[in-house]
Amino acid sequence: MNILILGGTSEASALASLLAERAIPATFSYAGRVSTPKPQPLPTRIGGFGGVDGLVAYLQQAGISHLIDATHPFAEQMSRHALAAAAQCNIPLMAFTRPAWQPQPDDDWTPVASMAEAVNQLDGPPQRIMLAIGRQHLEAFAAMPQHHYLLRLVDRLDHPLPLPHHTVTVDRGPFSMAGDLALLKDHGVERLVCKNAGGDGAVSKLTAARVLGLPVVVIERPTLPSRRECHALDDVLAWLSAPTERGV
Ligand SMILES: NC(=O)c1ccc[n+]([C@@H]2O[C@H](COP(=O)([O-])OP(=O)(O)OC[C@H]3O[C@@H](n4cnc5c(N)ncnc54)[C@H](OP(=O)(O)O)[C@@H]3O)[C@@H](O)[C@H]2O)c1
Repeated sequence: MNILILGGTSEASALASLLAERAIPATFSYAGRVSTPKPQPLPTRIGGFGGVDGLVAYLQQAGISHLIDATHPFAEQMSRHALAAAAQCNIPLMAFTRPAWQPQPDDDWTPVASMAEAVNQLDGPPQRIMLAIGRQHLEAFAAMPQHHYLLRLVDRLDHPLPLPHHTVTVDRGPFSMAGDLALLKDHGVERLVCKNAGGDGAVSKLTAARVLGLPVVVIERPTLPSRRECHALDDVLAWLSAPTERGV
C-alpha cells in the first residue's frame, strides 16, 4: 500500500496523523498556496503536479496504490484532475470530505451558486461586510466598491487589492465562537459572505452571525462528477483495508 493524500484541509491533516500513527505508507500533497503550511507527520510534497498528465506521471513514478482526495470542497480543479488521473492509472480513489453546512431556523442565508452571484447580491448602499472567502476571488468584489470589506486571510496580502475600503486580519483556523463574535462586533460587520465549506473549523462565523442576526450570502459548492466519497476517518480505513478494487 502506498497512499497519496491530496491535502489542504483539517480532514486531510487528521487522516495524515492517523496513517502515520498506524505506520501506513503515505505521502501528503499541498498545493503550496500558503507561506507556512502546517507540518505533517508524513513525507510531504508541495506544489501542483502539472495538470492531469503531471498527476498521472507522479502516481506512476511514485507507485501510488490508493489516492485520497481530501482537498477543500471548492478545490474543484484538483478534484476533477484526481478523478481523471486515478481513472487513467486504474488506481482506486476516495474523496474524504465534510458535509455541507445546513441553515438553522434562526439563520438568514441567501444561497448563491457562484462568486459572481455573491457579488451581485451586494448591490446596494454601503455596508460593512466580512468576506470569508479566502484570497483567490477578492478582486471580483471590486464591482461593489461602496462597501467596507473585512478580510480574514492565512497570509498577509502581497499586492494591493482593488477594494477601496478594506481591513485585513491574518489568522488561521480552527476559529472559535467567542473569537468570531468579538471579531464581527469589533468591526461592526453587518453582513457576511462565505463559501459553504462545511466542517467544524470555520463554522463559528455562521454561529456568530446567527447570534447577531446578520444576513449571510452562502456560496454553494461546485458540483463534481459522481465519485466514491466518505466523511469519516473510519470509513477511509475500512476502504483501505478492503480487498483492492481497481478503478475509480
Ligand atoms: N478553494 C478553497 O476555498 C480552499 C480553501 C481552503 C483550502 N484550500 C486548499 O488549497 C489548495 C488549493 O485550492 P484551490 O481551490 O486553488 O485548488 P484548485 O483550483 O482545485 O486547483 C488548482 C491547481 O492547484 C494544484 N493543487 C490543488 N490542490 C493541490 C494539492 N493538494 N496538491 C498539489 N497540487 C494541488 C493543482 O495544480 P496542477 O494542475 O499543476 O496539478 C490544481 O490544478 C487545495 O489543496 C485545497 O484543499 C482551498
